[in-house]
Amino acid sequence: MRTDWSLFFGSFHPLIVHIPIGILLFAALLNSIAAYRKNKTLEFSAGLALLVGSLGSALAAVSGYLLSASGGYDADTLFWHQWIGIALAIISFCAWWIRRNQKKDIFLLKTKLSTWLLSLCVLLIIAGGHLGGTLTHGEGYLTAHMPSFLKSLFPATPREQLQKLPPQLDSVRIYTNIIQPILHAKCVSCHNPNKQKGDLVLNSAEGIMKGGKSGNTLVPGDIDKSELIHRVTLDPDNSKFMPANNQPPLTTVELGLMKWWVASGADFNKNIAESKLDEKTKFLFAFYLGFDEESNKEIVLPEVAPADSGIVRQLKEMKLIVRSLAAQSNLLDVSFVMVQKSSPEQKKKILQKLLSVKEQVYRLDVSNCALGNEEMKMISGLPNLNKLELQKNNLTDETAAPLKALQQLVSLNIGQNAITDKSIAVFKQMTGLQKINLWQTQFTEEAVKKLQDDGVVVER
Ligand code: HEC
Repeated sequence: MRTDWSLFFGSFHPLIVHIPIGILLFAALLNSIAAYRKNKTLEFSAGLALLVGSLGSALAAVSGYLLSASGGYDADTLFWHQWIGIALAIISFCAWWIRRNQKKDIFLLKTKLSTWLLSLCVLLIIAGGHLGGTLTHGEGYLTAHMPSFLKSLFPATPREQLQKLPPQLDSVRIYTNIIQPILHAKCVSCHNPNKQKGDLVLNSAEGIMKGGKSGNTLVPGDIDKSELIHRVTLDPDNSKFMPANNQPPLTTVELGLMKWWVASGADFNKNIAESKLDEKTKFLFAFYLGFDEESNKEIVLPEVAPADSGIVRQLKEMKLIVRSLAAQSNLLDVSFVMVQKSSPEQKKKILQKLLSVKEQVYRLDVSNCALGNEEMKMISGLPNLNKLELQKNNLTDETAAPLKALQQLVSLNIGQNAITDKSIAVFKQMTGLQKINLWQTQFTEEAVKKLQDDGVVVER
């Protein structure tokens, strides 16, 4: 990778920015004590802190400006954050300059003006700091974990508004309530009227239909031709992968919804009832919106702590595809598609590493990986695994046996393996199992019937 000095310096912004914040707040404190005690030494110290703080904020403003060139920040928030930062550097410097020589300070006018400016600096620090937090942690980061009695005092963020949808799934508008919020959360920061990366604007239906530089952004009904889908399904290492610059990618569920929307003709007006969804898609929508249609209960995903980001990075470096399952969940969707041809030792090493985030793994695709008994033992150590793709692994009844430990597993694809009716005992022990794919296995009609009698949906 080529050295980019401006981005290199820019990346220190989050570090540098805290220096002037601390020093200027301290200057304000010293200044108040000095005024209260009428102490010249303290007043001098306050002035010195003000000077250092103002130089620090100039440095922070420059590094921030360089960092902003990397893109991917919300344009409006960035605008205000940037100008507040620049104003802070200028005003704090003026506050110092005015008081620099106080000998001729008639009626303390200069000191008073400087104090007012310093108070203004404190307000700017609070506002600018908050916007900086919003840029890095996203809107609503402050209220996200707030107790609900306090939360009700604040307006809902767009994401929370999305969750306050009409009680019936049928009246949810697919574009307005689902697709648009996804694009807003993940794409609009770089694709808006002010910042049209690739000449593409994604914050309006017109912009999406008009498309970008290459023209075929959206081809209704054709996910393969639509650049909008092509770009988000690429290997994350590909330079054309969207969102660019390592911004958080679409979750698996978001990707599924976007694909469905384009494949179904990309209608901008219909609601769910008008769209005549099949069961599977309807479930996807219900899942995304967080309610279970039949029982009118919320779908409850296991609550887990965030996965260790260092481990996730290492897994990605080992060419695993790791996506978060859904917004506001720490669960992961993991796929081995890019390592299917790696050596057995390498795959074992990856599985071993995966066990360091075992709580978080919710979906796992290890199809066509030539895994054996030992690997099945490792996989059965994933306590929250909900969906497992094991097709084409040369499994036998013996090698597949450890899977019985997967009590939470809901969906299993074990097709194209040489397993027989003997494995029925294994599946019966998976008490959570609701769906199984047995395509090209040696299961007999009778054994299938036994599973169906237990309420398991069998696909063949
Ligand atoms: C960090 C900034 C950034 C984010 C976030 C981002 N993009 Fe992009 N996008 C770019 C840049 C830069 C280009 C132009 C370079 C290129 O074509 O790869 C681009 C180009 C594109 C193009 C090709 C336009 C054309 O016709 O040539 C599509 C489609 C696209 N982005 C879709 C998306 C989608 C969908 C998302 C959200 C999931 C997204 N982008 C998020 C920066 C971003």
